[in-house]
Amino acid sequence: MNITPFRQRRLSLLARMGEAGGGLAVIPTAPERVRNRDTTYPYRADSYFHYLTGFPEPEAVLVLITGRSNDGPQSILFCRDKDIDKEIWDGFRHGPDAARETFGCDAAFSIKEFDSKLAELLADQPALWFSIGHDVGWDARIAAALNAVRAQARAGKSAPAVIHDVRAVLDEMRLVKDAHEIALMQKAATIACTAHRRAMRFAAPGRFEYEVEAEFLHEFRRQGSQYPAYPPIVAGGANACILHYVENNRPLQSGDLLLIDAGCEIDGYASDITRTFPVAGRFSGPQADIYELVLDAQAAAIATIRPGVTFLDPHTAAVRVLAQGMLDLKLLEGSLDGVIESGAFKRFYMHRTGHWLGMDVHDAGTYRSGPDDHGWRVLAPGMMLTVEPGCYIRPADDVPVAFHNIGVRIEDDALVTQSGCEIITAAAPKTIADIEALMADDHSG
Ligand code: GLY
Ligand code: MN
Ligand code: MN
Repeated sequence: MNITPFRQRRLSLLARMGEAGGGLAVIPTAPERVRNRDTTYPYRADSYFHYLTGFPEPEAVLVLITGRSNDGPQSILFCRDKDIDKEIWDGFRHGPDAARETFGCDAAFSIKEFDSKLAELLADQPALWFSIGHDVGWDARIAAALNAVRAQARAGKSAPAVIHDVRAVLDEMRLVKDAHEIALMQKAATIACTAHRRAMRFAAPGRFEYEVEAEFLHEFRRQGSQYPAYPPIVAGGANACILHYVENNRPLQSGDLLLIDAGCEIDGYASDITRTFPVAGRFSGPQADIYELVLDAQAAAIATIRPGVTFLDPHTAAVRVLAQGMLDLKLLEGSLDGVIESGAFKRFYMHRTGHWLGMDVHDAGTYRSGPDDHGWRVLAPGMMLTVEPGCYIRPADDVPVAFHNIGVRIEDDALVTQSGCEIITAAAPKTIADIEALMADDHSG
């Protein structure tokens, strides 16, 4: 394992803490969660903890101390002890010594020592940096450590006078991806693109949505992805108009479109891709009308992305194209500015055009620039965002029948570059010609 990026992120966080007065940060990983009785969900580390350590085991905490003039910054890892009996049943545990060595920390201790050591380490620190309010159990544990320091006031110890939410700093860091992250995200994107191509070849009338889902799970896993990045949406026909449809249990019908929103996670990083295509391989006229409209909206959104524009610009561009198309197709009446201003377009396009993408599918990072600036975040190289316009038409008396139950979304993942953006999910076909050609030739790659 290459520990350099993790060490660099710890040093970067320590430097940012130092600029804000220094102190001690506590970053716990996620707990194991029971699924039923004695069976747990597949384990996944907390994203912040993973970002700073790469350490994969549960019951672990990272403590960072900015240090004073005579002792430099320190990274201290708390983790489970070695336990050969438990390792026979549940697998390898590093134990503190190997963990310190492998993950490049300055010190490592047993997690059993965490509470008492934290109270020692917190004494006389200017500030505590912690994710306040994320977990009530952790809030109580931190309060107990602070109170243990306060109880030593007459012995001359003082508890931190300031508590910062460490996520505010980490979120700013996570917003701009480093080279290690971009490489992993390209890998997650490439695997998911292969899976979407596979689904286009596999889908056919009579197959069930879950059979198509299984193609994704198979492709993800066989290429080393640990899990889907979120529950796959495999929505045939009218199901495409349910934005978070995950039942995936209906048979596919010959004249329908199939909307699939599926991405994978590899080594902690997500891809997020949606493609919509005809079950039987050919778009009908009305399906093609809606599809081309959404594709044009996506192209308009992508064309805006470059350093210096705001997060809102791609959305604004997509909405203009979609709203004009809704007027042209007689889904709406009125003027372009009128249907945008009134929000009438939201009847058929009710979500935003994108979100940050990274370790979490809806990744960390605020969308506004800061507390003093109510403007939208300005894009900068290294940011990763999705571009996912859609159009969802539920049946209604005032809507042309030809469009009833058509739901289309097209979603790609965009890396902001120095001069524009790079679509890292471009290998999944999305023009009508490319989709129809792939589906007509079920032996092509
Ligand atoms: N797959 C979740 C999303 O597109 O936001
Ligand atoms: Mn998305
Ligand atoms: Mn998605």
